[in-house]
Amino acid sequence: MPENLLTVRGLHKVYGKRDSKFEALRGINLKINRGESVAIVGKSGSGKSTLMHLLALLDRPTKGEIILDGTNTSKLKQRDLNKLRNKEFGFVFQQFFMNANDTVLNNVILPLKIAGVGAKERRRRAMHALTIVGLESKAKNKASDLSGGQKQRVCIARAIVNNPAVIFADEPTGNLDSNTGAKVEETLFSLNRDKDITLIIVTHDEELAEKCNRQIRISDGRIESDEDLATEREIEAEIAAENEELRKNHKTGDMDADGLRDDATVSHVKVKEVK
Ligand SMILES: Nc1ncnc2c1ncn2[C@@H]1O[C@H](COP(=O)(O)OP(=O)(O)OP(=O)(O)O)[C@@H](O)[C@H]1O
Ligand SMILES: [Mg+2]
Repeated sequence: MPENLLTVRGLHKVYGKRDSKFEALRGINLKINRGESVAIVGKSGSGKSTLMHLLALLDRPTKGEIILDGTNTSKLKQRDLNKLRNKEFGFVFQQFFMNANDTVLNNVILPLKIAGVGAKERRRRAMHALTIVGLESKAKNKASDLSGGQKQRVCIARAIVNNPAVIFADEPTGNLDSNTGAKVEETLFSLNRDKDITLIIVTHDEELAEKCNRQIRISDGRIESDEDLATEREIEAEIAAENEELRKNHKTGDMDADGLRDDATVSHVKVKEVK
């Protein structure tokens, strides 16, 4: 049974006042289960980052509510909101929010420091996170010494160091070369598979969006479509396997071989193949 993680009801976001007023989100309703990987796609200016910021509790909606794990976040005080965010979420944003003059290790340690984890334990956990992204050898370097892709991986290390329930990523591979981008993607999806971390990724990259289990398209501040790619992929794989079976049996002339499904669709195809 899928476990609900986030429920969004009637979400609106208005920026500015009077003449410069702009309604960036115009009534978003959404449910996300634990362990999903969700791509948020859509044209530039459609409201993707706005939605992501609200879901990640980095900003408050003008109207509507966000329920996280049964807690109505609109009722929380700022302090409790910050605590909740630090505990439950990790962030991988394109504009790296890193302290360039500090070491890689200290950048990764930061969320643990905020959470009040002891010095020895936070060092151990930060080193473990750096090992996962393959950067343990750079722990003592200044963050500014790293390449763009390495910085992005430090961000992933920092995003996972608290063992979060959700990772929010806004264009995580946007300014990376394809090799480094692939590594960053691999890291994110293996965390989703192995640790059941929910991924919410804003991206213009169609290939990356296709790898997610769900794709939500935003248009002018509304949800235009919400596709379950995992189920689609499963059905496509079933059809491909059935066709392969038919081809094999047709070649050998053994149309009644074991394993062939005998439902209406398949027998219909069978008849066609025989002709
Ligand atoms: N702080 C702000 N003040 C006023 N308007 C804003 C603000 N932030 C965003 N907007 C407007 O809200 C709309 C949605 O912006 P948003 O950043 O969510 O788009 P996006 O879908 O992430 O686009 P992109 O793909 O270019 O990153 C845009 O028209 C933008 O100009
Ligand atoms: Mg954006």
